[in-house]
Amino acid sequence: MTTLTVTHPTGAYPIVIGRHLLADFRQHVGTTAPYIVITDTNVQPLYAHHFDDALDVIVLPAGEKHKTLETVNGVYGRLLRAGLDRSGFLVALGGGVIGDMTGFIASSYMRGVGFVQCPTTLLAMVDASVGGKTGVDLPEGKNLVGAFKQPFAVIADLETLHTLEPDEFACGMAETIKHGVINDPELFTFLERDSRPMTAARPELHQMVESAIEVKREVVQEDPYEHGRRAQLNLGHTFGHAIENVSGFVVKHGEAVAMGMMVAAEVAAALGHCAADLPSRIKATLLAHNLPVTIPADLDVDAIITMMGSDKKKKGGVIRYILPRALGDCFLTAAVPHDLIAQTITALQE
Ligand SMILES: NC(=O)c1ccc[n+]([C@@H]2O[C@H](COP(=O)([O-])OP(=O)(O)OC[C@H]3O[C@@H](n4cnc5c(N)ncnc54)[C@H](O)[C@@H]3O)[C@@H](O)[C@H]2O)c1
Ligand SMILES: [Zn+2]
Repeated sequence: MTTLTVTHPTGAYPIVIGRHLLADFRQHVGTTAPYIVITDTNVQPLYAHHFDDALDVIVLPAGEKHKTLETVNGVYGRLLRAGLDRSGFLVALGGGVIGDMTGFIASSYMRGVGFVQCPTTLLAMVDASVGGKTGVDLPEGKNLVGAFKQPFAVIADLETLHTLEPDEFACGMAETIKHGVINDPELFTFLERDSRPMTAARPELHQMVESAIEVKREVVQEDPYEHGRRAQLNLGHTFGHAIENVSGFVVKHGEAVAMGMMVAAEVAAALGHCAADLPSRIKATLLAHNLPVTIPADLDVDAIITMMGSDKKKKGGVIRYILPRALGDCFLTAAVPHDLIAQTITALQE
């Protein structure tokens, strides 16, 4: 078991990483206060039994399409009826969808109650549960309503990843590889040299998750409210979000991030910003961990580019891209010719 500490403008919280942590949940959060668990229909039957002293367990429908104000609105009354007041706290038990919604509820219920993240997907462990961004989607787009709300603990129980679908595990690997490219060359080269895909059973998982969280921790500590450096975490995301959207969400987020990282690397290499072999190194590493490296041919290039224009990172009418300069070194730039992006996407289509 290891613990990392995240400091933020109003305090600090531990991220506990290990196996079989949920069985000793109370001990790890270090409080005897009353709490309510919020989880989803897939996770409840697997892991809710660890929380037998909860005031209530609220089970929400699983999936991004339920990350809405309607779902959140249905929760507040149940918290009241179960008797939760500001002396109690909420537990988010699930992936990033549950973490984002529970954090948002915790930020607003009675003007704020404490909450603990118990991420059960690899993506939620290495990315969504750390950094205090919470929220819900609107019909107009993802994460358009939300709040910064820091958890008071994150309990990452690696054992829960055994039950995760392989494609969901791979999506978490995309963000992990992304963290290596942004800020941890050692993490990247470990995954590059690894002869087999990472799995929940492998002992190396612990160190990998810890290193990936460490990257996010370092970035969010420096830029807690996303005014600057935190934009680096969006490597592959400007292209990825557009691909995800144009595919009608058939391409999953992590898969789209993998494709988006390929576009970013190829564009950076074409402009001479990075070594010529960086795209092939990223490609081999993504492939080794069961991620796609080509863009489906049926996705229209113009539609992808138009969609990028509506990305919320667009600033003052200019789209800004995060490009790799080297492993562990990325930068933000608007100076990418439109034609080069179109050519790169086309060249990556299978
Ligand atoms: N707040 C942030 O900083 C941040 C960062 C990245 C992503 N996100 C958000 O995270 C969400 C994506 O998170 P996600 O990929 O975890 O999605 P998710 O929460 O939808 O989980 C994916 C699927 O796995 C199931 N599941 C979860 N844990 C399981 C387990 N242990 N065993 C079996 N099944 C399990 C879920 O029910 C769901 O069907 C998006 O909404 C995204 O916007 C937030
Ligand atoms: Zn992402």
